[in-house]
Amino acid sequence: MQIRSQSNLYTGNTNSALRIKQPVFKGLLYVDSRTGMPIDSWFYRDTKTLKSAVTEIKTTFPSGAEIWDFACSNGEETISVKSLLESPKYTVIGYDSSISALKLAKKGIYTVFSSWYDSFLLQKEKNSSEEKFLQEKFYGMMEEIQPPAFERHINNKTAYFNIKKFYHDFQEKYFRVAPQKRKEIDIRKGDINEIKHYRSQNKVGAIFFRNALYQMTGNDLNETIEQRKYFASRPMDNKKEIIEALVNKIHAKLENGGVFVIGDHIKDHLFLADRNLPKNEVILFKDTPFFDSGNSKHISSSDVKLFKESPLKRALEKDGRFIPIGFSKTSLDYGGIKIKVPTVWKKVR
Ligand SMILES: C[S@@+](CC[C@H](N)C(=O)[O-])C[C@H]1O[C@@H](n2cnc3c(N)ncnc32)[C@H](O)[C@@H]1O
Repeated sequence: MQIRSQSNLYTGNTNSALRIKQPVFKGLLYVDSRTGMPIDSWFYRDTKTLKSAVTEIKTTFPSGAEIWDFACSNGEETISVKSLLESPKYTVIGYDSSISALKLAKKGIYTVFSSWYDSFLLQKEKNSSEEKFLQEKFYGMMEEIQPPAFERHINNKTAYFNIKKFYHDFQEKYFRVAPQKRKEIDIRKGDINEIKHYRSQNKVGAIFFRNALYQMTGNDLNETIEQRKYFASRPMDNKKEIIEALVNKIHAKLENGGVFVIGDHIKDHLFLADRNLPKNEVILFKDTPFFDSGNSKHISSSDVKLFKESPLKRALEKDGRFIPIGFSKTSLDYGGIKIKVPTVWKKVR
């Protein structure tokens, strides 16, 4: 696997005597150490979206393209996309701005465990045909390993420990990219805001930026204490401008017919209203408890002001430049009512 960044970025402690003293799972990185922002990800997250994006890329760029996977975290997403776009005609480059995520990518040890979104990869008997298909793609890229305890980093320790506590038949497996596939996985340090400075060898056929825009815009509908501190230190009341500028850059970089892929998380679709937003552009949201950072408490949802229309949707549809061609389903809460959301957007002009 290629990891490109500043040369001094990964000079971790290699003193094995010191490392062995560390308890199992010490040093798990669920949030970026600088921003407190989540870096969680998993294999084949929102498969529906991945499959529509991949089908579109193959149809529009039959002779190949470059795929830029921004906000790739430690690489599960990049590996998933590459496994679906197997041909060498498609180069997939993962970019993430978080040094913590890149450290995990550099380790290249991936955990799959029971009762999580990607646990179907644990080769169960009862998998559906789609799960079997994804398993086949996954095992075509990855090999199982038995890393020593101190190397078992995962990127979502909260989920891991909670699930482990409740399942007596809890299972976990560790993987790395198979040696013969390593050159196909290229993960770099990169910020999507700087996208115009990144060079491509081929047409940029797709740009992914999934479940990450909320970090750039301060659009956190269910934030943690760490995130609250981070957002409070840099209040962002200009989501419209930030999003419009981002979409302009993506539009400029993508080939005609290329796709921009966003997340299925609600935070890519519902946006907290900027304080100065005109009343006619605001809607009151009535569905969920919400943390009011001004008053430092959870308040009733009817006080939550949202953009009536998603500023992301509006920026994409401006001048008819993008149209939605792939959809997924999302909800505000676990178990909440699911709504259909556009996740794959095609550049049409
Ligand atoms: C919640 S994770 C989502 C990971 C993956 N895209 C997924 O959906 O599973 C958000 C990731 O976005 C990254 N990120 C946030 N802002 C970014 C930016 N401006 N450029 C590149 N990556 C960014 C964070 O470092 C983090 O790894």
